[in-house]
Amino acid sequence: MTDVRARILQALRGAGEDFVSGEELSRGLGISRTAVWKHIRYLQAVGYPIEAVRHRGYRLLHGEGPLRADRIQAGLATSRFGRHLEVLETVDSTNRYAFEAAERGAPEGYAVLAERQTGGKGRRGRPWFSPPGTGIWMSLVLRPPLPLLRAPQLTLMTAVSVAEAVRSETGVPVVIKWPNDLLLPDGRKVCGILLEMSAETDHIRFIVLGIGLNVFQLEEDFPEELRHSAGSLAMAGEHRTLCRTTLVQAVLGALERDYDRYIAEGGFAPFRSRWEALNATLGRAVSVLMPDRTIFGVARRIDDEGALWVETGGGRVERVVSAEVLFDGPFHTFGGMD
Ligand code: BTN
Repeated sequence: MTDVRARILQALRGAGEDFVSGEELSRGLGISRTAVWKHIRYLQAVGYPIEAVRHRGYRLLHGEGPLRADRIQAGLATSRFGRHLEVLETVDSTNRYAFEAAERGAPEGYAVLAERQTGGKGRRGRPWFSPPGTGIWMSLVLRPPLPLLRAPQLTLMTAVSVAEAVRSETGVPVVIKWPNDLLLPDGRKVCGILLEMSAETDHIRFIVLGIGLNVFQLEEDFPEELRHSAGSLAMAGEHRTLCRTTLVQAVLGALERDYDRYIAEGGFAPFRSRWEALNATLGRAVSVLMPDRTIFGVARRIDDEGALWVETGGGRVERVVSAEVLFDGPFHTFGGMD
Protein backbone atom coordinates (compact mmCIF):
# COMPACT_ATOMS: atom_id res chain seq x y z
CA MET A 1 0.00 0.00 0.00
CA THR A 2 1.33 3.43 -0.84
CA ASP A 3 2.21 5.78 1.95
CA VAL A 4 -0.64 8.11 0.98
CA ARG A 5 -3.23 5.34 1.37
CA ALA A 6 -1.73 4.35 4.72
CA ARG A 7 -1.97 7.97 5.85
CA ILE A 8 -5.58 8.22 4.69
CA LEU A 9 -6.41 5.13 6.73
CA GLN A 10 -4.57 6.56 9.70
CA ALA A 11 -6.59 9.79 9.51
CA LEU A 12 -9.87 7.86 9.22
CA ARG A 13 -8.98 5.59 12.12
CA GLY A 14 -7.97 8.60 14.19
CA ALA A 15 -11.39 10.16 13.64
CA GLY A 16 -13.21 7.09 14.96
CA GLU A 17 -16.86 7.33 14.05
CA ASP A 18 -16.61 10.92 12.83
CA PHE A 19 -16.31 11.96 9.21
CA VAL A 20 -13.12 13.45 7.80
CA SER A 21 -13.75 15.84 4.93
CA GLY A 22 -12.11 15.45 1.55
CA GLU A 23 -10.86 19.01 1.96
CA GLU A 24 -9.10 18.15 5.23
CA LEU A 25 -7.50 15.04 3.73
CA SER A 26 -6.40 16.88 0.64
CA ARG A 27 -4.81 19.67 2.71
CA GLY A 28 -3.15 17.29 5.15
CA LEU A 29 -1.69 15.13 2.42
CA GLY A 30 -0.88 17.85 -0.07
CA ILE A 31 -2.84 16.20 -2.90
CA SER A 32 -5.97 17.17 -4.83
CA ARG A 33 -9.44 16.16 -3.70
CA THR A 34 -9.76 14.08 -6.86
CA ALA A 35 -6.62 12.22 -5.88
CA VAL A 36 -8.08 11.66 -2.40
CA TRP A 37 -11.24 10.27 -3.98
CA LYS A 38 -9.23 7.89 -6.17
CA HIS A 39 -7.33 6.55 -3.17
CA ILE A 40 -10.60 6.12 -1.26
CA ARG A 41 -12.07 4.17 -4.19
CA TYR A 42 -9.03 1.92 -4.15
CA LEU A 43 -9.28 1.32 -0.40
CA GLN A 44 -12.97 0.48 -0.75
CA ALA A 45 -12.16 -1.91 -3.57
CA VAL A 46 -9.64 -3.82 -1.47
CA GLY A 47 -12.11 -4.28 1.35
CA TYR A 48 -11.98 -1.26 3.65
CA PRO A 49 -15.53 -0.34 4.65
CA ILE A 50 -15.28 3.41 4.03
CA GLU A 51 -18.48 5.37 3.88
CA ALA A 52 -18.48 8.40 1.59
CA VAL A 53 -21.18 11.03 2.19
CA ARG A 54 -21.53 14.17 0.12
CA HIS A 55 -20.69 17.36 2.06
CA ARG A 56 -19.49 15.40 5.07
CA GLY A 57 -16.57 13.36 3.83
CA TYR A 58 -15.38 9.88 4.66
CA ARG A 59 -15.40 7.58 7.64
CA LEU A 60 -14.29 4.07 8.36
CA LEU A 61 -17.19 1.83 9.31
CA HIS A 62 -16.88 -1.00 11.75
CA GLY A 63 -16.27 -4.41 10.32
CA GLU A 64 -13.07 -5.20 8.59
CA GLY A 65 -11.06 -2.13 9.35
CA PRO A 66 -7.98 -2.41 11.52
CA LEU A 67 -7.45 -5.63 13.42
CA ARG A 68 -8.56 -5.58 17.04
CA ALA A 69 -7.71 -8.10 19.74
CA ASP A 70 -11.22 -8.06 21.27
CA ARG A 71 -12.90 -8.71 17.90
CA ILE A 72 -10.54 -11.57 17.09
CA GLN A 73 -11.01 -13.13 20.51
CA ALA A 74 -14.80 -12.78 20.39
CA GLY A 75 -14.99 -15.36 17.60
CA LEU A 76 -12.13 -17.65 18.60
CA ALA A 77 -12.94 -21.33 18.91
CA THR A 78 -9.69 -22.23 20.68
CA SER A 79 -8.83 -22.97 24.27
CA ARG A 80 -5.20 -21.73 24.24
CA PHE A 81 -4.12 -20.30 20.89
CA GLY A 82 -4.81 -16.58 20.78
CA ARG A 83 -6.26 -16.48 24.30
CA HIS A 84 -3.36 -14.16 25.13
CA LEU A 85 -3.34 -11.88 22.13
CA GLU A 86 -1.86 -8.52 21.29
CA VAL A 87 -2.44 -6.42 18.18
CA LEU A 88 0.21 -3.76 17.60
CA GLU A 89 -0.02 -0.84 15.23
CA THR A 90 3.65 -0.99 14.23
CA VAL A 91 6.53 -3.24 15.22
CA ASP A 92 9.84 -4.14 13.62
CA SER A 93 9.02 -7.85 13.59
CA THR A 94 6.27 -9.78 15.37
CA ASN A 95 8.69 -12.73 15.56
CA ARG A 96 11.23 -10.61 17.41
CA TYR A 97 8.51 -9.26 19.71
CA ALA A 98 7.07 -12.73 20.42
CA PHE A 99 10.55 -14.13 21.03
CA GLU A 100 11.14 -11.59 23.78
CA ALA A 101 7.69 -12.23 25.22
CA ALA A 102 8.48 -15.96 25.30
CA GLU A 103 11.80 -15.24 27.04
CA ARG A 104 9.79 -13.40 29.71
CA GLY A 105 7.47 -16.42 30.11
CA ALA A 106 4.58 -15.85 27.66
CA PRO A 107 2.43 -19.00 27.71
CA GLU A 108 1.95 -21.44 24.86
CA GLY A 109 -0.60 -20.02 22.46
CA TYR A 110 0.37 -16.37 23.05
CA ALA A 111 -0.07 -14.56 19.73
CA VAL A 112 0.96 -11.14 18.50
CA LEU A 113 -0.20 -9.43 15.32
CA ALA A 114 0.82 -6.12 13.82
CA GLU A 115 -0.86 -3.90 11.27
CA ARG A 116 2.59 -3.17 9.92
CA GLN A 117 6.15 -4.45 10.33
CA THR A 118 9.09 -2.21 9.64
CA GLY A 119 11.63 -5.05 9.75
CA GLY A 120 9.59 -8.15 8.89
CA LYS A 121 11.85 -11.20 8.69
CA GLY A 122 11.71 -13.83 5.97
CA ARG A 123 13.66 -17.06 5.64
CA ARG A 124 17.37 -17.03 4.84
CA GLY A 125 17.77 -13.50 6.22
CA ARG A 126 15.46 -11.96 3.63
CA PRO A 127 13.10 -9.11 4.52
CA TRP A 128 9.36 -9.74 4.54
CA PHE A 129 7.36 -6.97 2.93
CA SER A 130 4.68 -6.03 5.51
CA PRO A 131 2.89 -2.78 4.65
CA PRO A 132 0.08 -1.49 6.90
CA GLY A 133 -3.38 -3.00 6.85
CA THR A 134 -2.85 -5.35 3.93
CA GLY A 135 -2.01 -8.69 5.43
CA ILE A 136 -1.79 -10.91 8.47
CA TRP A 137 1.58 -10.58 10.17
CA MET A 138 1.34 -12.89 13.15
CA SER A 139 3.62 -14.78 15.52
CA LEU A 140 2.62 -17.53 17.92
CA VAL A 141 4.55 -18.94 20.88
CA LEU A 142 4.69 -22.73 21.22
CA ARG A 143 6.32 -24.80 23.95
CA PRO A 144 6.31 -28.30 22.47
CA PRO A 145 7.79 -31.16 24.51
CA LEU A 146 9.89 -32.24 21.54
CA PRO A 147 13.49 -32.92 20.60
CA LEU A 148 15.16 -30.28 18.47
CA LEU A 149 15.19 -32.43 15.37
CA ARG A 150 11.41 -32.46 15.16
CA ALA A 151 11.03 -28.66 14.86
CA PRO A 152 11.04 -28.51 11.02
CA GLN A 153 8.02 -30.82 10.93
CA LEU A 154 6.01 -28.17 12.76
CA THR A 155 6.55 -25.87 9.80
CA LEU A 156 5.16 -28.49 7.44
CA MET A 157 2.19 -29.04 9.72
CA THR A 158 1.64 -25.27 9.87
CA ALA A 159 1.59 -25.06 6.07
CA VAL A 160 -1.16 -27.70 5.99
CA SER A 161 -3.23 -26.01 8.72
CA VAL A 162 -2.95 -22.53 7.21
CA ALA A 163 -3.62 -23.75 3.66
CA GLU A 164 -6.77 -25.59 4.73
CA ALA A 165 -7.99 -22.65 6.81
CA VAL A 166 -7.42 -20.22 3.92
CA ARG A 167 -9.18 -22.55 1.48
CA SER A 168 -12.23 -23.01 3.66
CA GLU A 169 -12.49 -19.33 4.66
CA THR A 170 -11.91 -17.78 1.24
CA GLY A 171 -12.28 -20.49 -1.39
CA VAL A 172 -8.86 -19.56 -2.80
CA PRO A 173 -7.23 -22.90 -3.74
CA VAL A 174 -3.78 -22.23 -2.33
CA VAL A 175 -1.16 -24.96 -2.68
CA ILE A 176 2.02 -25.81 -0.74
CA LYS A 177 5.57 -25.55 -2.00
CA TRP A 178 7.82 -27.67 0.21
CA PRO A 179 8.65 -26.96 2.89
CA ASN A 180 6.44 -24.07 3.86
CA ASP A 181 5.37 -21.59 1.20
CA LEU A 182 1.76 -21.22 0.18
CA LEU A 183 1.22 -20.33 -3.46
CA LEU A 184 -1.73 -19.12 -5.47
CA PRO A 185 -2.80 -21.41 -8.32
CA ASP A 186 -0.69 -19.27 -10.68
CA GLY A 187 2.45 -19.89 -8.60
CA ARG A 188 2.70 -16.52 -6.85
CA LYS A 189 3.72 -16.74 -3.20
CA VAL A 190 0.90 -15.65 -0.92
CA CYS A 191 2.14 -16.85 2.48
CA GLY A 192 5.44 -17.59 4.18
CA ILE A 193 6.19 -19.28 7.48
CA LEU A 194 9.24 -18.58 9.63
CA LEU A 195 9.95 -20.79 12.62
CA GLU A 196 12.48 -19.51 15.14
CA MET A 197 13.45 -21.33 18.26
CA SER A 198 15.22 -21.25 21.58
CA ALA A 199 16.73 -24.59 22.55
CA GLU A 200 18.64 -26.27 25.34
CA THR A 201 21.07 -29.00 24.32
CA ASP A 202 18.72 -31.25 22.37
CA HIS A 203 15.35 -29.95 23.59
CA ILE A 204 13.14 -27.09 22.47
CA ARG A 205 12.57 -24.37 25.09
CA PHE A 206 10.10 -22.52 22.92
CA ILE A 207 9.25 -21.88 19.31
CA VAL A 208 8.05 -18.70 17.65
CA LEU A 209 5.97 -19.53 14.64
CA GLY A 210 5.70 -16.55 12.30
CA ILE A 211 3.08 -16.44 9.58
CA GLY A 212 2.93 -13.78 6.89
CA LEU A 213 -0.22 -13.93 4.73
CA ASN A 214 -0.79 -11.37 1.97
CA VAL A 215 -4.48 -10.47 1.89
CA PHE A 216 -5.34 -7.17 0.23
CA GLN A 217 -2.37 -6.14 -1.92
CA LEU A 218 -2.77 -5.63 -5.62
CA GLU A 219 0.11 -6.22 -8.02
CA GLU A 220 1.20 -2.58 -8.05
CA ASP A 221 1.49 -2.54 -4.26
CA PHE A 222 4.44 -4.91 -4.27
CA PRO A 223 7.93 -3.53 -4.80
CA GLU A 224 9.30 -4.04 -8.30
CA GLU A 225 11.47 -7.02 -7.35
CA LEU A 226 8.47 -8.96 -5.96
CA ARG A 227 5.88 -7.89 -8.50
CA HIS A 228 6.04 -11.06 -10.56
CA SER A 229 6.49 -13.59 -7.78
CA ALA A 230 4.31 -12.32 -4.91
CA GLY A 231 0.53 -12.47 -4.74
CA SER A 232 -2.32 -11.86 -2.34
CA LEU A 233 -5.70 -13.46 -1.71
CA ALA A 234 -7.32 -10.34 -3.22
CA MET A 235 -5.43 -10.96 -6.46
CA ALA A 236 -6.91 -14.46 -6.59
CA GLY A 237 -10.58 -13.73 -6.21
CA GLU A 238 -13.40 -11.72 -4.82
CA HIS A 239 -11.59 -9.35 -2.49
CA ARG A 240 -14.64 -7.62 -1.10
CA THR A 241 -15.52 -10.65 0.99
CA LEU A 242 -12.08 -11.06 2.53
CA CYS A 243 -11.92 -10.48 6.26
CA ARG A 244 -8.64 -10.62 8.16
CA THR A 245 -10.38 -11.10 11.52
CA THR A 246 -12.16 -14.30 10.50
CA LEU A 247 -9.03 -15.51 8.73
CA VAL A 248 -6.98 -15.08 11.90
CA GLN A 249 -9.66 -16.93 13.88
CA ALA A 250 -9.73 -19.76 11.35
CA VAL A 251 -5.92 -20.04 11.23
CA LEU A 252 -5.58 -20.10 15.03
CA GLY A 253 -8.39 -22.69 15.29
CA ALA A 254 -6.81 -24.95 12.68
CA LEU A 255 -3.35 -24.59 14.22
CA GLU A 256 -4.49 -25.49 17.74
CA ARG A 257 -6.40 -28.54 16.53
CA ASP A 258 -3.49 -29.78 14.37
CA TYR A 259 -0.77 -28.98 16.90
CA ASP A 260 -2.57 -30.94 19.61
CA ARG A 261 -2.90 -33.85 17.21
CA TYR A 262 0.75 -33.58 16.21
CA ILE A 263 1.84 -33.77 19.87
CA ALA A 264 -0.64 -36.53 20.79
CA GLU A 265 0.04 -38.75 17.78
CA GLY A 266 3.77 -38.13 17.79
CA GLY A 267 4.70 -36.68 14.46
CA PHE A 268 4.04 -35.69 10.88
CA ALA A 269 2.75 -39.05 9.59
CA PRO A 270 -0.95 -38.27 10.26
CA PHE A 271 -0.57 -35.07 8.20
CA ARG A 272 1.24 -36.57 5.27
CA SER A 273 -1.79 -37.37 3.11
CA ARG A 274 -3.26 -33.91 3.78
CA TRP A 275 0.06 -32.35 2.78
CA GLU A 276 0.13 -34.48 -0.37
CA ALA A 277 -3.39 -33.38 -1.32
CA LEU A 278 -2.27 -29.74 -1.17
CA ASN A 279 1.19 -30.12 -2.62
CA ALA A 280 2.48 -28.31 -5.69
CA THR A 281 5.96 -29.79 -5.38
CA LEU A 282 5.95 -33.49 -6.18
CA GLY A 283 6.61 -34.43 -9.78
CA ARG A 284 8.26 -31.10 -10.49
CA ALA A 285 11.78 -30.30 -11.69
CA VAL A 286 13.46 -28.48 -8.82
CA SER A 287 16.65 -26.82 -7.64
CA VAL A 288 17.22 -27.55 -3.96
CA LEU A 289 19.31 -24.93 -2.17
CA MET A 290 21.07 -26.25 0.93
CA PRO A 291 23.55 -24.30 3.07
CA ASP A 292 26.57 -26.04 1.53
CA ARG A 293 25.40 -27.02 -1.97
CA THR A 294 22.58 -27.03 -4.51
CA ILE A 295 21.14 -30.13 -6.13
CA PHE A 296 18.93 -30.42 -9.20
CA GLY A 297 16.38 -33.11 -9.90
CA VAL A 298 12.74 -34.10 -9.71
CA ALA A 299 10.85 -33.97 -6.39
CA ARG A 300 9.44 -37.47 -5.98
CA ARG A 301 7.86 -37.84 -2.54
CA ILE A 302 7.87 -36.82 1.09
CA ASP A 303 8.17 -39.34 3.88
CA ASP A 304 6.62 -39.69 7.34
CA GLU A 305 9.25 -37.32 8.75
CA GLY A 306 8.39 -34.66 6.17
CA ALA A 307 11.69 -35.01 4.30
CA LEU A 308 11.66 -34.46 0.53
CA TRP A 309 13.05 -37.17 -1.76
CA VAL A 310 14.65 -35.78 -4.89
CA GLU A 311 15.70 -37.92 -7.83
CA THR A 312 18.91 -36.42 -9.16
CA GLY A 313 19.57 -38.66 -12.17
CA GLY A 314 21.35 -41.94 -12.72
CA GLY A 315 19.00 -43.63 -10.27
CA ARG A 316 20.27 -41.51 -7.38
CA VAL A 317 17.80 -40.20 -4.80
CA GLU A 318 18.64 -37.64 -2.12
CA ARG A 319 16.62 -37.21 1.06
CA VAL A 320 16.41 -33.53 1.99
CA VAL A 321 15.40 -32.47 5.49
CA SER A 322 15.79 -28.71 5.30
CA ALA A 323 16.37 -26.51 2.25
CA GLU A 324 14.83 -23.99 -0.09
CA VAL A 325 13.22 -25.28 -3.26
CA LEU A 326 13.02 -23.42 -6.55
CA PHE A 327 10.84 -24.70 -9.35
CA ASP A 328 12.66 -25.09 -12.64
CA GLY A 329 10.51 -24.18 -15.60
CA PRO A 330 7.14 -22.43 -15.77
CA PHE A 331 4.64 -22.89 -12.97
CA HIS A 332 1.27 -24.42 -13.60
CA THR A 333 -0.81 -26.43 -11.20
CA PHE A 334 -1.78 -29.90 -12.17
CA GLY A 335 -4.36 -32.49 -11.20
CA GLY A 336 -4.98 -33.85 -7.74
CA MET A 337 -4.83 -30.64 -5.78
CA ASP A 338 -8.37 -29.45 -5.79
C1 BTN B 1 9.37 -16.61 4.32
O1 BTN B 1 10.45 -16.09 3.99
O2 BTN B 1 8.69 -17.25 3.53
C2 BTN B 1 8.89 -16.47 5.75
C3 BTN B 1 8.14 -15.20 5.95
C4 BTN B 1 7.58 -15.02 7.36
C5 BTN B 1 6.97 -13.67 7.59
C6 BTN B 1 6.26 -13.57 8.90
S1 BTN B 1 5.28 -12.10 9.03
C7 BTN B 1 5.03 -12.39 10.72
C8 BTN B 1 6.33 -12.92 11.29
N1 BTN B 1 7.19 -11.83 11.71
C9 BTN B 1 8.31 -11.76 10.97
O3 BTN B 1 9.20 -10.91 11.12
N2 BTN B 1 8.30 -12.73 10.04
C10 BTN B 1 7.13 -13.57 10.14
